[in-house]
Amino acid sequence: MLLLANVEAYPGFETSVDLLKQGRHGLDAMIAGISLVEKDVRVRSVGYGGWPNMLGQMELDAGVMDGTTREVGAVGAVPDTIPVAALAREVMKKLPHVMLTGAGARRFATESGFSLDDPLYPDSARVWRERLERELSPDELARFPNIPLAPLSKAITDPERVRDTTVFLCQDASGGIHAATSTSGWGWKYPGRLGDSPIPGAGFYADSRYGAAACTHTGEMTIRCSTARTVVLAMKLGRSLSDAIKIAVEELAELTEGFLAGVVIHAMDASGNHEVVNFR
Ligand code: GLY
Repeated sequence: MLLLANVEAYPGFETSVDLLKQGRHGLDAMIAGISLVEKDVRVRSVGYGGWPNMLGQMELDAGVMDGTTREVGAVGAVPDTIPVAALAREVMKKLPHVMLTGAGARRFATESGFSLDDPLYPDSARVWRERLERELSPDELARFPNIPLAPLSKAITDPERVRDTTVFLCQDASGGIHAATSTSGWGWKYPGRLGDSPIPGAGFYADSRYGAAACTHTGEMTIRCSTARTVVLAMKLGRSLSDAIKIAVEELAELTEGFLAGVVIHAMDASGNHEVVNFR
């Protein structure tokens, strides 16, 4: 049994470990842990403690993958819903689809019995409002939000505010290797922006025969390189865990245009080896 998660996982890590020790399916164990992270306001990049988009609205992203069946569930830009990793799993279990976004994801949450949450944490609202007042002219502020948002995306969008998604990878008692992610995405993102956390193959991937990978930080890069899938595919083709991560890092390093910043790759193989590599 193995659980690999990043530092943001701390409010839920022990719960996931306990459930894995009890022999629970890895996705049950990880989603129980992630649900605690999503509710904990000390974690400023996931769930209720996260940051809103440019309009001051929360849009949450999450994804889960069962590495034994290779089933995936994902949700993106979800309003009014805090436990989005659990919602992603409902998509996987109940629908013939892999991914729901926005209003459709919220509708499905209601159908699935999820409460209608107010996910904008007052402190996040305060910081968002202060930033807006600093960056906009009095005229723009008076007209906000009826101003073009695209020119603001370089000034206001703040990847540094979200250095972290929460990512969980595990090998459970039955040998199943699974992945789960959850995030509020970039602070001050353009409305509707999806990062890599809900994108299978970019932000997460799992295959119980070979291993799993999940990424944090700059989803705009891992989406372009299919980073999580690259790591697992390289292991399938016979590379060691370290070599597989090296291949994924080389691909990220080949990018020279577009938004470029850091990526952290978390990965494990089917023998229980694990590595976390910071690419900058
Ligand atoms: N890796 C998180 C994001 O890009 O939203």
